[in-house]
Amino acid sequence: MFLSKGLTINDRGHLTIGGCDTVELAAAYGTPLYVMDEDSIREALREYVRSMNEHYPQGGRIAYASKACSFLEMYRIVNEEGCGADVASAGELYTALQAGFPADKLYFHGNNKPAGELCMALEAGVGRIVVDNLPELHRLSAVAKELGRTAEILLRVTPGIDAHTHSFIRTGQIDSKFGLTMENGDALEAVKEALVLEGIVIKGVHCHIGSQIFDADPFIHAAEVLLQFLAEIRRETGAALTEMNLGGGFGIAYTGGDKPRPYSEYMAMVSGALKKKAEELDFPLPFIVLEPGRSIAAPAGITLYTVGGVKEIPGVRTYVSVDGGMADNPRYALYQAEYTVVAAGRMNEPAVRNAAIAGRCCESGDMIQENVPLPAVDSGDLLAVLATGAYNYSMSSNYNRLPRPAVVMAKDGKSRVVVRGETYDDLIRNDI
Ligand code: LLP
Repeated sequence: MFLSKGLTINDRGHLTIGGCDTVELAAAYGTPLYVMDEDSIREALREYVRSMNEHYPQGGRIAYASKACSFLEMYRIVNEEGCGADVASAGELYTALQAGFPADKLYFHGNNKPAGELCMALEAGVGRIVVDNLPELHRLSAVAKELGRTAEILLRVTPGIDAHTHSFIRTGQIDSKFGLTMENGDALEAVKEALVLEGIVIKGVHCHIGSQIFDADPFIHAAEVLLQFLAEIRRETGAALTEMNLGGGFGIAYTGGDKPRPYSEYMAMVSGALKKKAEELDFPLPFIVLEPGRSIAAPAGITLYTVGGVKEIPGVRTYVSVDGGMADNPRYALYQAEYTVVAAGRMNEPAVRNAAIAGRCCESGDMIQENVPLPAVDSGDLLAVLATGAYNYSMSSNYNRLPRPAVVMAKDGKSRVVVRGETYDDLIRNDI
C-alpha cells in the first residue's frame, strides 16, 4: 500500500501521522479535517537547502511557493528553516508579514498586480517584485517614484519550454498568460526599459515552467535558456544581471505509480548544466532561486473524512459519501487529479470493492476519487486522502456554505490546531 512519508500503521491497524492516531484525531477535532506532519514539511525544506548548498555553492535560495498552502504557521516554519517565500497576492503577502516573515526574503508574483498591491509590497520592503509584463513594469515605476522608493525586480520570461509534453515546443509557450516572451524579443525589450526606468533596479530573470513535473530535462533546459538570456542581455546592453529564479514544479507521489526523483538529483543536474553553460558563455554563475510549493506541502498533508453512507447500484458502481468534497479539495473536479484514499481505521483489512468517493456538495461532479479499492467500510468509518497538503486548503471554498475545515499540525505524537475550523458566524461575517 502506498503511504506518504511520515505516515505509518499502528498496532490497532489505524493510520498515524506525525505519531498521532488518525482515529483519535478525528474524534478530538471532528471531520473533515486537514492534518499536516510538521517534520515532513521541515525535512522537505531541509533537503532542498542541503542539496542547494551541496551542489550549488555559488549561492542560492529556496523560496517556498506559499500558494501551495498559506497560513501563519507555514510561514513561521519556512522562516525557521532559513528559506524565503513566494507570495502571489497581497493576501499571501499580508499573511507572511503577519507571521513575522522577513520581507526581504519574499518574492512577489502574479500576472496582474494592481497598483495598490505593488504599493503595499514596496512599503513592506519586499525583496523582489517579479514583474510579469510591460504595463505592470510602468505601473511599478510610477508607484515607486510616488513613494520615493526603489523596486528591485526580476522579469518573468517564458523560455519556450513545454514541460508537460516533454518536448521543447516553442509555440506552445508563446500561448501563455504569464510572462514576457523571449522568442519575439519582448523580454529583451522589457529588460532594456527596466534598465532605464526610474524607481526600478533589475536584478535578474524568472521563469516557472509548470507543475508536478517528474522529468529533469525541462528544468535543465530552462536553466540553460535563462543563462543564455543573461549573456544576451550583457551583450546587448552591457548589464550583467546576477540573479536567476527558476520557479517550482517538482513532482510528488500521489499514488504508488508516481516516481518522483530526489530533489538533490535535480539540483545536481541543474547545477552541472549551469556550470558548463557558464563556462561556454564566459558568464559568471548567477545566484539561483528555486520556488518549490507542492513538494514541500503536499506529501505532509492528509484529509480525514467520515463516511456518511454507502450506496450500491448493482451493475453500475458503489458510492461512498463523505462529509467533505470539492469545497475542501477541488482538485479531482478540476483536474481529475489522482489521490490515494485509505480506510484510516481499517488499514490492515483487505479491499473488498472499488468505490467512488463522493463529496457532499450539490453537484454530480463533486468527487474526491473514483475506483478506489476499499475494505468493507460503512457509515461512521474514517477515510484518509493522502498527499493533500498542497492546493487543497489553499484552493478551498465555501461552496454550499460549507465551513472550511480546521488544519491540525502533528509532530512527535502531539497535535495542535494551526488554523481554526470556520464557524457558521464566519460564513455570514461579511453579509449585510
Ligand atoms: N513559482 C511560481 C511562479 C508558480 O506559479 C508556482 C505554481 C510555483 C512556484 C510552485 O510550483 P509547485 O512547486 O507547487 O509545482 N493548482 C494547481 C497547481 C498550480 C501551480 C501554480 N503555480 C494544482 O492544484 O495542481
